[in-house]
Amino acid sequence: MRISIVGSGYVGTTVAACLADAGHEVVNVDIDEEVVDAINAGEAPIHEPGLDELVAAHGGDRLRATTDYGAIRDTDVTFLALPTPSNEDGSIDLSAMEAGARSVGEALAEKDDYHLVVVKSTVIPGTAEETLTPIIAEASGGTEGEDFDVASNPEFLREGSAVADFQQPDKLVFGATTERAFARLRAVYDSVVDDVPVVETGRREAEMIKYANNAFLAAKVSLINDLGNVCKEYGVDAYEVADAIGLDDRIGERFLRSGVGWGGSCFPKDVDAIRAAARAEGYEPQMLDAAVAVNDCQPERLLALLDGHVDVAGQRVAVLGLSFKPGTDDIRNSRAIPVIEGLQERGATVVAYDPVAVAEMREQFPDVAYADSAADALVDAAGAVVVTDWDEFAALDSEFDAMARPVVVDGRHVVERREGITYEGLTW
Ligand code: UDX
Repeated sequence: MRISIVGSGYVGTTVAACLADAGHEVVNVDIDEEVVDAINAGEAPIHEPGLDELVAAHGGDRLRATTDYGAIRDTDVTFLALPTPSNEDGSIDLSAMEAGARSVGEALAEKDDYHLVVVKSTVIPGTAEETLTPIIAEASGGTEGEDFDVASNPEFLREGSAVADFQQPDKLVFGATTERAFARLRAVYDSVVDDVPVVETGRREAEMIKYANNAFLAAKVSLINDLGNVCKEYGVDAYEVADAIGLDDRIGERFLRSGVGWGGSCFPKDVDAIRAAARAEGYEPQMLDAAVAVNDCQPERLLALLDGHVDVAGQRVAVLGLSFKPGTDDIRNSRAIPVIEGLQERGATVVAYDPVAVAEMREQFPDVAYADSAADALVDAAGAVVVTDWDEFAALDSEFDAMARPVVVDGRHVVERREGITYEGLTW
């Protein structure tokens, strides 16, 4: 098929490269000329394992990029993969989606045959139907169901494994209103995956499935964190408890790693957006509110454990790990941010280390000292906190002996050395 993808961010580029690899003719539309040039030159504009190879293989060939929305006229399907950030109150900011839908509609005004527009971005239930369809209808002069359809096809890609997640998904979710739209969505994915459950449903349901999926996982982590805090109070190892309850397949073993909490570009934004949407309808989503409240507490609980051993005012404290999870340099909503802020409020001198995310954090916290290795960060420190579960922190051992006071508070259950240091696990 001939497929256009509006937006060459992390989702758009991954989807474009994977669809090109599956044999489709793909064109990415983006306003950023640097991104467009990179894709045409066969260079991935973002870092994801496996993406470089796909863009190198197909960039400038089956995978092209352009700043011209007119390119979508030569395609059968357009995916909208534009950002849906949060407003100050947590509600969703649809301005990029609305502008994109308008540009797509304007391009379709000069297209004769049927076109399918697919919303990939995460949007509140009703957005495809009530907001984007009218914009496209007005700008194109076309009629929904005849000249075009607007479908929903949310993504469930994790950073760091987005290519693999796209190629081997747990499920595909198609929300549409006409058989023609469903058929075209099936045709897009036929050559990408086989033997994967396909959920064919309404658009509002598809939009909600994405929020429910992320909210459920975020709440699952918050629940194990809440239970983990209780465990800690009673001297119980929450990881032993999690291993046991995970054997119950109604609970499942995944996403039971308790610690300093969840961050990233999706969970916080999506949970806030669906909470704001619920409140806008007069419903207070108490479980989701609690999931956020528990998540907000974990960094302070980590620091309170440190306070119990050392007054950090005027002391060096090592912060190990800055990215929101291992395998990425993304620091958006990383738990390292409130941890650093809490240490600074206490008057500590923060020395931070991360294998890949230092440059990003330096922009946000230029006054923090950054070390080139975990070992360097630990030298003369009166305490250390582990915020990201990078593998390399598991191997730290004699490095702790260089600390002024070897107090280590582990927020991710990674440090293996326990002897000869004051070790505190956040929930164990
Ligand atoms: C998530 C969803 O998994 C993905 O389906 C969605 O499309 C985008 O959001 P991502 O943000 O890349 O993906 O990260 P993920 O691996 O899900 O982790 C999210 C956060 O939860 C991280 O901060 C991680 O450290 C934390 N986490 C995860 C835990 O604290 N404990 C766990 O057991 C699992």
